[in-house]
Amino acid sequence: MSALSIASNIKINEQLLSNPESQIVTNVVHWTDTLFSFRLSRDNNFRFRSGEFVMIGLPDETGKPLLRAYSIASPNWDEELEFYSIKVPDGPLTSRLQKIVPGDRVIVKSKSVGTLVTDALLPGENLWMIATGTGVAPFASLIRDPDVYERFNKIILVHTCRKNAQLVYGSRIVDNARTDPLVGDMVQDKLIYYPTTTAEPSLKQGRPTTLIESGEIFLDLNLSPWNAAIDRVMICGSLAMNKDVVALCEQQGLSEGSNNTPGEFVVEKAFVD
Ligand code: A2P
Repeated sequence: MSALSIASNIKINEQLLSNPESQIVTNVVHWTDTLFSFRLSRDNNFRFRSGEFVMIGLPDETGKPLLRAYSIASPNWDEELEFYSIKVPDGPLTSRLQKIVPGDRVIVKSKSVGTLVTDALLPGENLWMIATGTGVAPFASLIRDPDVYERFNKIILVHTCRKNAQLVYGSRIVDNARTDPLVGDMVQDKLIYYPTTTAEPSLKQGRPTTLIESGEIFLDLNLSPWNAAIDRVMICGSLAMNKDVVALCEQQGLSEGSNNTPGEFVVEKAFVD
């Protein structure tokens, strides 16, 4: 890190020391040149439902908080909070957030919200989670929540990225979940992980939309095409991907749910700077 960015980090941390909504960075992992995850201390009073997002950020040059919506990637029983982010070179927040190191402080607002929650879905058999890019973050939380396994018989996590390296964060979460003392047995029993790439060879190539439309994914997994009676779908990715998967859900007769009126699918935009 340059002397200039160290000085700017020190300034930010001084400003945040007096902010009761700031939390301490405990760990940072850079997965690729454009993706990183970080862990923060968690306020004892902070409660959230798996799949929700919260506003987090840093002060800007004038000291005003610069906040963005980030899905919480850690399960709700974790003592800390984890987030997964892209690095946008000129992004107002991520250009600075990517420089955080353990001991720094980050603002975490006290209220979490969102629709990628099991409460917004009607009971069903199969829970499909369709993610592209950093859209895997809310599912990283949900696949470690025992409540999800109590409500559904099969949980299918579909994660699509251009390259294999961009899938590593998600695959590590899945691997660790399989041996987790709390949820490991349920994960082994019920979670199906289906990673795909679109710009590089891998075990499975293709956009989720193409694999769903062609029926390939259902053949691969020995499952029937989506049926409103038993299938529930959660979608989190780019606007274009969300729109296309919503159309596929609607074609199959699934209707959108919300916290007030649970339905057969729910959708949320992954963080974009
Ligand atoms: P593709 O490489 O075919 O565009 P991005 O890096 O742009 O956020 O994309 C992440 C992943 O989401 C890529 O694998 C990309 O595939 C895929 N993707 C982008 N748009 C759509 C869409 N409308 N439907 C399905 N997958 C999409």
